[in-house]
Amino acid sequence: MMTPEFSRRDLIGAIAAVPLAPLLPTPAEAQPIPTRKWSVPYGAAVRGGSLTEDAEYRATLAAYCDQLVSEGGLKWFDLRPTRDRFDFSEGDRYLAFARANGMKFRGHTLVWHGALPPWAEAIDNAVVAEREMIRHIETVVGHYRGKIANWDVVNEAIADDPQTAPGLRDSLWLRRIGPRYVALALRAAAQADPGAKLIINDYDIEFVGDRYKRKREAFLRLIRSLRADNVPLHGVGLQGHLSDNQIDQAGLTAFASEIKAMGLEFMVTELDVVDNKMPGPPEMRDMVAAARVHDFLGAIFAAIRPSAVLTWGITDKYSWVPIYFKRGDGLPNRPLPFDVQYKPKPMMQVIEHFCR
Ligand code: XIL
Repeated sequence: MMTPEFSRRDLIGAIAAVPLAPLLPTPAEAQPIPTRKWSVPYGAAVRGGSLTEDAEYRATLAAYCDQLVSEGGLKWFDLRPTRDRFDFSEGDRYLAFARANGMKFRGHTLVWHGALPPWAEAIDNAVVAEREMIRHIETVVGHYRGKIANWDVVNEAIADDPQTAPGLRDSLWLRRIGPRYVALALRAAAQADPGAKLIINDYDIEFVGDRYKRKREAFLRLIRSLRADNVPLHGVGLQGHLSDNQIDQAGLTAFASEIKAMGLEFMVTELDVVDNKMPGPPEMRDMVAAARVHDFLGAIFAAIRPSAVLTWGITDKYSWVPIYFKRGDGLPNRPLPFDVQYKPKPMMQVIEHFCR
């Protein structure tokens, strides 16, 4: 039974609008060849428990990914149980797995409004906030100096609906330090590891709609101001948590063109498809999800070759989506390139089409 939000016509329109047919595997090609020969590096977010317990998970990551990013483990909540204790155990474990498998490893994330431990949430003045933020960056980037060569320094700095300039998200960091916290964080990271690539990362930049257009414009304003002030910044990350929202292909291509014109790298950092409002039947949903990914990557590649495309996990078996975006029909979410049995889905073919 089709979900009410999606008529069959919509679905056929969504699929027909995207030249997926040549991308979808013929029976002979149904299984992508496990290889890491990517022209645009592909990677995935890794999570701790699964890495230890699931051999097929480890094998799939090792077969397809030439880089990994920490889903958890390198957020304040994981790293800093108390103000004076840094716990690098989880991050060190991910890094060891990546290095043992010849993969690069990127760090996520040094400054974010989320995943703050209670002691940090309780910081109530500018001096302590600035001191703790800089100490965090110096200690964490210093610990991984020369080993993690790419950091999401500031994550989700832009407000969800930036009505007026500068349009920064209301966060502990903005409230306590002010808008300059972004530049401060980037400068501290550059000082802690001059060899690391420094990225600012955000979401909901790619969709059709006034709110998303305003968010794109606010993100560009921030990036331009950082560049104008010679703040160390190497690239921009679009998380890419797609959904049933249409991709604003012209708007996204224009955004990516501006990033390229500024001489910055462009990364897709957390690609998946939040499919809770998409049609029910898995095979149809997989096609619509693949169509969204095709629209998204197509709009980016029309302007710039990303320095990497990473999905936020690799198998539906381990994803944040069912925790935060359960489906009303009770069917399992299908957000990632491989299903729960590690079978590749049309989404993986689309990623291969662009990144091989
Ligand atoms: C998510 C993780 O996947 C969840 O396991 C955790 O409970 C919450 O954070 N954007 C981000 C990521 O930048 O850090 C978030 O990760 C997903 C949204």
